[in-house]
Amino acid sequence: MEDTDHDDVDHIRSCKRRAGDPEWDGERLHFLKIITTFKTYERFNQQRLRANVNFVDSLSPSHQKLLADYRRHLTEIEQCFTKNQDVFHLIVSEVSEMFENHDDVYSNNNMDKLPKVAPTVFDQDKLHAVLKQIYRDWSVEGEKERDSCYTVILEELERRYAQIKLTADVRVLLPGAGLGRLAHEVVRRGYVTEGNEFSLFMLFTSNYILNKCRGTFAHTIYPFIHQLTNHAHHEDQIRGVKFPDVDTSDIPANSRFSMTAGDFLDVYSTPENTGTWDVLITCFFIDCSHNIVEMIERVHACLRPGGCWINLGPLLYHFADIPGENSVEPPLDFVLDIIRKIGFNIEKQILDYPTQYAENKKSMLRYSYRSAFLVSIKTKEATEQ
Ligand SMILES: C[S@@+](CC[C@H](N)C(=O)[O-])C[C@H]1O[C@@H](n2cnc3c(N)ncnc32)[C@H](O)[C@@H]1O
Repeated sequence: MEDTDHDDVDHIRSCKRRAGDPEWDGERLHFLKIITTFKTYERFNQQRLRANVNFVDSLSPSHQKLLADYRRHLTEIEQCFTKNQDVFHLIVSEVSEMFENHDDVYSNNNMDKLPKVAPTVFDQDKLHAVLKQIYRDWSVEGEKERDSCYTVILEELERRYAQIKLTADVRVLLPGAGLGRLAHEVVRRGYVTEGNEFSLFMLFTSNYILNKCRGTFAHTIYPFIHQLTNHAHHEDQIRGVKFPDVDTSDIPANSRFSMTAGDFLDVYSTPENTGTWDVLITCFFIDCSHNIVEMIERVHACLRPGGCWINLGPLLYHFADIPGENSVEPPLDFVLDIIRKIGFNIEKQILDYPTQYAENKKSMLRYSYRSAFLVSIKTKEATEQ
């Protein structure tokens, strides 16, 4: 895995399989399914909305009269589907060239010969999350939220490494990079930066924003149209958000910036990723796995001795309460204990750091996390416990 000097994020590097591997077709099918999900967004959501419209149309004439403004509002929502679809088409327009090994798993060659795959409701709902994530990472409206999450991390990074990076490469890895804004901010500050992400929804979108978008505010999305409840004003639901708020090509010359595709727990278990990273940054990430202990162990293994792990986030435990999924959900005090036992010295901890996540600030219902901000230094090898 070689870094190259590049104005943009490197072609997304993938550990995917080659032709002949039994899982090869499965990966191509998954890839195709996600592309189809992007391409069928408008049609799928029109069908969903039709049920609401039909219900209104089935009500008594007096109720229909009272709901006339609402009925028009539904039509406006439908028009927003079309505008979101335009952006989604752009995002997937060149994705087959996005991976370094695009000549096999992800090329368009022979795609027609694979069986057709229908996106599920679950897949379509992930696109709604993509819209909210664009709002979080790449809009002016998301700035306050980004300040609540990213500023404290970036200040800590700079406080520790601003001098060192003047004379030596400081290698920073961001697993669970989402749409890549935090990684972009890290590379802008002159660090050798690698994001990692396993969701093709995120990878397709970040590839578009980081590599294809030029200039600012070229696109508009409507991130709140799929939130059906708790709007105070109808304009709040159909308000557009422009992105990106910065020119993503505006990073220092000779920046080294890459994004790897795949599961952090697999991709970073290789010898070249063991004991070699100066800094790991995790933001709203360590609670994304079935086993948080495995995540912390992998973070620890990636770092060189003395390396620094900066973490911010809650303990949402994404697999808790999902039927059929095993998961451990230790409370924070146990997690802190586990971090120390794995071989970290926790140098800084703020345990009620107020943060939001893709939060609609105009909603009548708002969530706020009292996140844990932790700065931990690798002090020993895990085997020494
Ligand atoms: C809650 S989001 C946080 C995204 C970003 N860090 C932010 O703060 O906006 C967690 C991200 O981690 C990704 N993710 C979860 N488990 C992962 C894994 N094992 N390897 C790589 N990425 C993973 C998800 O796809 C998702 O984009």
